[in-house]
Amino acid sequence: MNIIVSPGFAIKTFLYSLIFTEVCCSRYPSVTQVTEPVQHGEGPVCDPRVGKLYYVDLHHGRVMAYDYARGTTEIAIEIPGHDLVPVLLTKDPDTFIVGLNRSVARVKASSKPGILHTVQDDHPKNRFNDGKADAEGRLWLGTMGYETPDGKVEPNVGALFKYSPEDVTKPSVEIAGIGVGNGLAWSKDNTKFYYIDSLTQDIEQYDYDATTGRISNKSIVFSVKGKGMGSPDGMTIDEDDNLWVALYGGGSVIEVNPKTGTLLRRIPIPAQYTTSVIWGGPNLNILYVTTSYRSLVEKEKVYQASAGSVFAISNLGTKGRPENFAKF
Ligand SMILES: *[C@@H]1O[C@H](CO)[C@@H](O)[C@H](O)[C@H]1NC(C)=O
Ligand SMILES: *[C@@H]1O[C@H](CO)[C@@H](O)[C@H](O)[C@H]1NC(C)=O
Repeated sequence: MNIIVSPGFAIKTFLYSLIFTEVCCSRYPSVTQVTEPVQHGEGPVCDPRVGKLYYVDLHHGRVMAYDYARGTTEIAIEIPGHDLVPVLLTKDPDTFIVGLNRSVARVKASSKPGILHTVQDDHPKNRFNDGKADAEGRLWLGTMGYETPDGKVEPNVGALFKYSPEDVTKPSVEIAGIGVGNGLAWSKDNTKFYYIDSLTQDIEQYDYDATTGRISNKSIVFSVKGKGMGSPDGMTIDEDDNLWVALYGGGSVIEVNPKTGTLLRRIPIPAQYTTSVIWGGPNLNILYVTTSYRSLVEKEKVYQASAGSVFAISNLGTKGRPENFAKF
């Protein structure tokens, strides 16, 4: 086959490539694998005091620490026999609040975890699945029902709990009867709360009263139902108040404007089970994405060899806000 290119076309192509590189591609997001795989990466948080991304290997009871200046990853905490998620920061950089099955615990790298409270004795197979601290240092932690090895979750037996620093033994139930308690975020002005129950496939918004920590006036800002994009999982927010959501089974991260309910961007990740997202790096402008290989069959593992790794997305043209410390 002969391809004849006219001189005009060649010049146009050259000009386009110049413009394209300058205008478009200098701002095109780039996705890089930054750690080795773990079985089920989840629950990430970045600590600017030490320049580290913490995330969990959920079913191995591990907190991993990725040092973003050195590029190294190590096991920071290991509590065998437990599902561990999430990992939250406190005022002391060496002390973390974690979920351990149905318990909330305070842990230091070198010592035994101190259990603060346990929820849902009536559902012994439930476990915590995600959580964050709000600006006042309260803890918001959601549970989920038992998940079979092939990924079926007992529905409607989870709850979103809120712990206040005054009394860690008396959490309030903020949302009852949920499927899989997942992503949480607050708007910059602290008047909106965003929340995901993965089983509904919706991203919810509530009015938020920062003084009392009460949520009200639920609405749905975006749904992935029927879109063949998997289920919304972990979530974070950027300085422009847009939401960033990992799509479990959807191999991607989406950016959603909650004010207009529009999908702004979808960035593919080379791992089908993307689990969560968090802003980090020295300028808080790198979006770290945790992933999992737990639900892949052997054949899929071959062509998704990096599943379970953390990926870094740079060049997004926006950045995050620092995470709150849990006052516990
Ligand atoms: C935590 O949950 C896992 C998974 O269900 C279970 O195997 C483990 O025994 C539980 N650990 C404790 C201490 O209850
Ligand atoms: C909930 O919505 C009602 C009606 O729009 C409004 O009057 C009320 O202030 C809202 N609640 C909060 C906490 O913003």
